[in-house]
Amino acid sequence: MRHCMSPLDFSVEELDQMLDLAVDIEHNPEKYSHACEGKKIATLFYEPSTRTRLSFEAAMLNLGGKVLGFSSAQSSSAAKGESVADTIRVISCFADIAAIRHPKEGAAYVASTVSGIPVINAGDGGHQHPTQTLTDLMTIRSIKGKLGKLTIGLCGDLKFGRTVHSLISALVRYPGIRFVLISPEELRVPDYVRDDVLRKNNIPFEEVIRLEDALPDLDVLYMTRVQKERFFNEEDYVRMKDFYILDKAKMELAKEDMCVLHPLPRVNEISVEVDSDPRACYFRQVQYGVYIRMALILTLLGVKVC
Ligand code: NCD
Repeated sequence: MRHCMSPLDFSVEELDQMLDLAVDIEHNPEKYSHACEGKKIATLFYEPSTRTRLSFEAAMLNLGGKVLGFSSAQSSSAAKGESVADTIRVISCFADIAAIRHPKEGAAYVASTVSGIPVINAGDGGHQHPTQTLTDLMTIRSIKGKLGKLTIGLCGDLKFGRTVHSLISALVRYPGIRFVLISPEELRVPDYVRDDVLRKNNIPFEEVIRLEDALPDLDVLYMTRVQKERFFNEEDYVRMKDFYILDKAKMELAKEDMCVLHPLPRVNEISVEVDSDPRACYFRQVQYGVYIRMALILTLLGVKVC
């Protein structure tokens, strides 16, 4: 049985196929509208979410399937002390596939080792968020027409931002990728990303503090929120939270065809005045997230649509 813990669970060829499938779904949604009839997805969310949980549910509903689940640890048996491992064993009796979000790194992996159904990691602490990465890859490929030969700027909380860690590890497999890592000193990427992912793969990258310095070079700017819930104290968060604010004036420094992505939710890091700029692609990104999750569900369930 296949699970999805990290974007690296799929080869580049498999990812290409999944992205092609998602594009076909985008253009021919009715072809897929009964593909998962009789199937159910369980969404087990121990951490807040709007997009990820609802886009999994929308994805399954679009495929003709059904959804069940919970949206907070308090409303599940976790509040009574049940382990994730026991919960997934139980859920395996109710559903055909599960998406799990949990504040602890590795929680989805633990679930996958005892699960009777495919498990999708919908975010594990500050570690990985593979389905956001699939969404990001689809967005970049759709807008830029390719996934290689791009200069990608990642800006904000690169330390705790799990979407950043997953996206970097996925993109290093495409030729000609260069990164500009834009963050305050305290929120730089973790050592394992710098050493084991970037340096090990000989990927060109620079680490800078000022967004203005990086902007003119970028093909893609990936903005992120400072991850309040992963800070050890409120004071540090308050000091960091408005470190970057992308506004109209800064957008003037960027290339005409740069695209701005953000996994959302946004707090202050992108001013709303940027939303009307044609280079702002973060709401399109949300739509791609539904298509790629449909493609992922079909792939993990082994459902073929001719
Ligand atoms: C992200 C997450 O949960 O890591 N949100 C999402 O799933 N789109 C980003 C974030 O919360 O900042």
